[in-house]
Amino acid sequence: MKKNARIFHINREGEGAEEDEGAEGTRGVLEGGTVVAWATVVASTFGEIFRIATWGESHGAGVGVVVDGCPPRLAISREEIQGELDRRRPGQSRITSHRDEADQVEILSGVEDGLSLGTPIALLVRNSDARSGDYDELRTAYRPSHADYTYQAKYGIRAVAGGGRASARETIGRVAAGAIARKLLAETAGIEIVAYVKRVCDIEAAVDPSAVTRAKVESTIVRCPDDNVAQAMIDLIDATRKAGDSVGGVIEAVARKVPAGLGEPVFDRLEADLGKALLSLPACKGFESGSGFAGTRLRGSQHNDIFYSESSRIRTRTNRSGGIQGGISNGEDIIVRAAFKPTATVLMPQETVDVEGKSTTLKVRGRHDPCVLPRAVPMVEAMMALVLADHLLRQRGQCGRF
Ligand SMILES: Cc1cc2nc3c(=O)[nH]c(=O)nc-3n(C[C@H](O)[C@H](O)[C@H](O)COP(=O)(O)O)c2cc1C
Repeated sequence: MKKNARIFHINREGEGAEEDEGAEGTRGVLEGGTVVAWATVVASTFGEIFRIATWGESHGAGVGVVVDGCPPRLAISREEIQGELDRRRPGQSRITSHRDEADQVEILSGVEDGLSLGTPIALLVRNSDARSGDYDELRTAYRPSHADYTYQAKYGIRAVAGGGRASARETIGRVAAGAIARKLLAETAGIEIVAYVKRVCDIEAAVDPSAVTRAKVESTIVRCPDDNVAQAMIDLIDATRKAGDSVGGVIEAVARKVPAGLGEPVFDRLEADLGKALLSLPACKGFESGSGFAGTRLRGSQHNDIFYSESSRIRTRTNRSGGIQGGISNGEDIIVRAAFKPTATVLMPQETVDVEGKSTTLKVRGRHDPCVLPRAVPMVEAMMALVLADHLLRQRGQCGRF
C-alpha cells in the first residue's frame, strides 16, 4: 500500500466512510495514491452452484477454467471437452482467424477414472501460436471499438498482445466448462442445446428450432443449417475478408427437453441469466428471447401462447414466450438470439488516438476473424448450458425436483 494514502472503506452495508491507513478490510490504491477504494470483485466467476472461473490472456502461457460445484460421478472424458474446443478453435476454416492453435485441453484435477470427483475441475489449454509482434503498434494507439482503451482506463495497465483477456481466447474456458455442463444436462434430464448462425449481415436463414440438428449445423463452415443461404453467407464473409473488413450477424439457439420449473424469480429469472450469459461474450451486443423485439408489433390476442393438455403435460400451441414465462421454464423449447457486431479489428487504416490522446492513423496487422459468428456458435451453446446446469442444480437444491 502507498504511504499517506487515504482509505475509502465500503462496509458490509455498502456505505462508504473514510478511514485511516491500516484499517481492516479489502483495499487497493488507485494511481496517484490519494483515494483508495475496494470491494469484493470476482468478475471472472460465473454461476451460483455450477460455478466457473476462467483465467488467462490471449498471448500468455495459456488459458483455462476451474469448474466448481459439478456433481460427483458424472462421466467426463477429455475427448468430449476437446470436441467442443475443436469447434471453437481458430484456424478451423478459411472464414475464421488464421491463428493456428491446436487448443489441446489438459484435465488437471477433479476427474479420476473418467468420473467427476465433486471437487474443482481444472482445465488448461496452452497458447502456442501467439505472435506478440503483430500487436506492437497497439502499444501506443487504441483500436476503434475494441477494448484497448477501456482496459487501460479501468486498470491503468493492459496486456497489449491479442487484446489480453478481452480476446475471444478467454472463451476457451467457457466452452470447456460448457462441455461438462452439457453432459450434466443430457444425463440428468435429456436436455439438448443447438445453436446456429441465423443471419450474417442482411442474409437471413429460415430454420425450424424444434428440428434443427447439430450435424446439419456442422455441415457447413459458416454453421448455418439453411442450404439456401449458407453459401451466400460464406461468399460474403470471404469477400469481406479479402477487403480487410468485417461483418456481424445473429446466432439463434434452442434448448430442447428442458423441464418446466427452471429459473429463480425475481432477479435470476431464466431469461435474465441467459441474457447476462450471452451478453458477457465478446462482441455480443444484443439479446432476445422468444418473440423478442418483433413481438412488440403484435396485439396480446395475437401474441399469447394458448395452453392445451397433451397426455399428462401442459403445453402451448405456439411458443412466442420462447419456453420461459415469469422467468421460469414452461417445458417448451427455450429459444434465444444473440447479436454479434462486426469484428472491431479491420485491416485497413483507421483514424484513432494514441495513448496520449493525439490523433493518429492505425493500420493493424495480425490474424483476425472477418466474422465472429461461426466460432461463436459453440460459445453460445456453452453459455446456455452453463446457465441451465446451474439452474437445474438450484431447482434441485430448493425444490428437490430433477
Ligand atoms: C468468436 C469470436 C472471435 C473474435 N475474434 C476477434 C478478432 O479476431 N479480432 C477482434 O478484433 N475481435 C474479435 N472478437 C471480438 C473482441 O474480442 C471484442 O470485440 C472485444 O473484446 C471488445 O469487446 P466488445 O466488442 O464486447 O465491446 C471476437 C469475438 C468472438 C466471439
